[in-house]
Amino acid sequence: SENLRVLAIETSCDDTSVALVRQDGTVEISFSANQDLAHAPYGGIVPEIASRNHTHHLLPLIEQALGDTSLTWNDIGGIAVTNRPGLIGALIVGLMTAKSLSMAKSIPLIGVNHLEGHLLAPFLRDSTYQPPFEFDSPVLALTISGGHTSLVLMKTWGQYQLLGETKDDAAGEALDKFAKVLGLGFPGGAQVDRESKKGDLAKYPFPRAMVGENGLDFSFSGLKSSGARLVNQIIENEGKEAVDSQRADLCASYQEAVIDSLLTRLTQAVKKTGIKKIIITGGVSANSRLREKSIELAKDKGWQIAIPPLRYCTDNAAMIGFAGVWRLNKGFSHGPDLAPSPSLWDGDFQEAKS
Ligand code: KG4
Ligand code: ZN
Repeated sequence: SENLRVLAIETSCDDTSVALVRQDGTVEISFSANQDLAHAPYGGIVPEIASRNHTHHLLPLIEQALGDTSLTWNDIGGIAVTNRPGLIGALIVGLMTAKSLSMAKSIPLIGVNHLEGHLLAPFLRDSTYQPPFEFDSPVLALTISGGHTSLVLMKTWGQYQLLGETKDDAAGEALDKFAKVLGLGFPGGAQVDRESKKGDLAKYPFPRAMVGENGLDFSFSGLKSSGARLVNQIIENEGKEAVDSQRADLCASYQEAVIDSLLTRLTQAVKKTGIKKIIITGGVSANSRLREKSIELAKDKGWQIAIPPLRYCTDNAAMIGFAGVWRLNKGFSHGPDLAPSPSLWDGDFQEAKS
């Protein structure tokens, strides 16, 4: 089994995703079923609806993955599944399916930390994407999604140190909430991205809040409140139409504040650690302005930078497969007592704040 293949399952939030991944990170198949339309009427993810949709989508996706590659269960060397962190009901659907398949087909099972998946996503490879550098020495990671905003020092495979994280809202949450105030629908991050392209990013001076001058933590709740306050003020003073006509400027200015806060912290982390191999990962790394700005910054500072293609930025099973396959290859696996967890496990990340 020198190039092991795993079947990977991801159901921690609102995307049902299945992938076939090789030990070297090659993605053979990656399919997802998106639930945005099911949650949109509620303006946010409804956990019960997410679980129910996972049960509808998961088995057909697995059948499709095997069918499209004409592989059989004999070709599958392991089953990797996200078991933490996430919505418990949503995690249970993927975990129970993975356990059942593992038992029925006698295939080893491995539970994966969703965030480790995001950290490894830039190192996946397929027919149109190759990582710009390998993960063979320490890497500094900015992980930004709807639920997380962290700076992580990836020392080596499996050894991750948390350098800083958000003290309140995640970056994606701050974008989603502002989109909601503007009536842009859910999830709003990509809509804010689209609107911003037509707007003036210097029109509104939104705050770039940082927690502690020298620390590496983030805070977005102040920005979120000031965004909502401004929109309400415009509505009160000039009416609802005024917001619609200034929507692009509002988005561009707000988005720029989020991006500045992220990149300022990243720059501080590089200074502090001396590490100049950077990855940016998680759903918000799909943001076009952030990608542009961070690539420019890296060029300017002489960093090597890797940002995965959009399909590996947002939640996907391929990244879960990559985290799982190297653990299996190292001899780790889980028994049928593997449990889902809404939070990380002790030892997933080393806390080291100084
Ligand atoms: O990683 P992800 O798919 O799920 C979590 O683990 O949270 O991240 C979802 C987040 C949402 O907040 C969504 O609005 C944001 O990623 N997002 C974006 C873009 N595409 C997705 N934010 C900004 N610009 C985008 N293009
Ligand atoms: Zn995620």
